[in-house]
Amino acid sequence: MAQHALVTGSSHGLGAHLAARLAADGWKVTGLGRRPASETPGTPGVDHLQADLSRPETLERITDRLGEAPDLIVHNAVSYPPRPAHELSLAELEDVFRVNALVPYRLTLDLLAATPDTRFTSIVVINSESMFHADRDSGAYAASKAALRVLTGSLADACRSRNTAVATLLLGPLADPDKVAQLQRVAARRGVDEAEITRVFLRKSNPDLVIEELIDFDACYRSVQYLAGLGRAANGMLCRLDGGSAGSLI
Ligand SMILES: NC(=O)c1ccc[n+]([C@@H]2O[C@H](COP(=O)([O-])OP(=O)(O)OC[C@H]3O[C@@H](n4cnc5c(N)ncnc54)[C@H](OP(=O)(O)O)[C@@H]3O)[C@@H](O)[C@H]2O)c1
Repeated sequence: MAQHALVTGSSHGLGAHLAARLAADGWKVTGLGRRPASETPGTPGVDHLQADLSRPETLERITDRLGEAPDLIVHNAVSYPPRPAHELSLAELEDVFRVNALVPYRLTLDLLAATPDTRFTSIVVINSESMFHADRDSGAYAASKAALRVLTGSLADACRSRNTAVATLLLGPLADPDKVAQLQRVAARRGVDEAEITRVFLRKSNPDLVIEELIDFDACYRSVQYLAGLGRAANGMLCRLDGGSAGSLI
């Protein structure tokens, strides 16, 4: 029987890619996102669950719908704050923390509680190197990802004696289509090579990373595959795909 994977934030961006690749590799995939199924890529093999993770009542609905934990859970959904951190209301700050940190934590605990320990469960939590660099604009996002990192460590500890592995995939700037299109427009306007513009962008936006290219979605998928394939050895693991040094290599 096909193994079951849940990918949150599968209606767009990286999550849509991960869900499609898992389905193509034979997984039975439940994808979760806020928008209705008609506005998702509609990938064959991906069953869309419309749910708003910022709403407290959503959690119970998801656990009821899924029952036992899927064999693989990829916590990928993200709420990017609509404005700089210092302009956010308390309610907006709470939404960001709920989607980015609190729901992945609580949903994992609830699903594992309903799952017999004879079944192995792999949990991959997508995080961001931006948690190392908060400035006045990005503070809320960075803090929510830092909270996610700490909660993920705590989950891994709670799973030590379980048939479960909780791992983090920490990513740097992704080659998402919007960012790539924007860089292509700048390159065309300035009459220079796209690769050169990308290098300039990365040096300015992420001076402590040692990468010159955006990270492609498929490298992320292969990292998820790798972490899931490690079995229990991946518990507590942090896999960095971010050209990252957090300053230490420079
Ligand atoms: N993009 C980057 O450069 C970058 C860099 C490092 C790490 N990351 C990490 O990679 C992951 C994917 O990022 P991305 O840029 O690909 O994201 P994205 O394109 O903005 O997609 C976010 C996904 O999360 C879903 N989502 C947002 N709010 C939600 C809510 N309240 N309830 C349910 N679903 C919700 C969205 O669903 P709807 O669209 O249906 O609302 C969408 O499917 C995130 O964990 C992010 O932190 C990204």
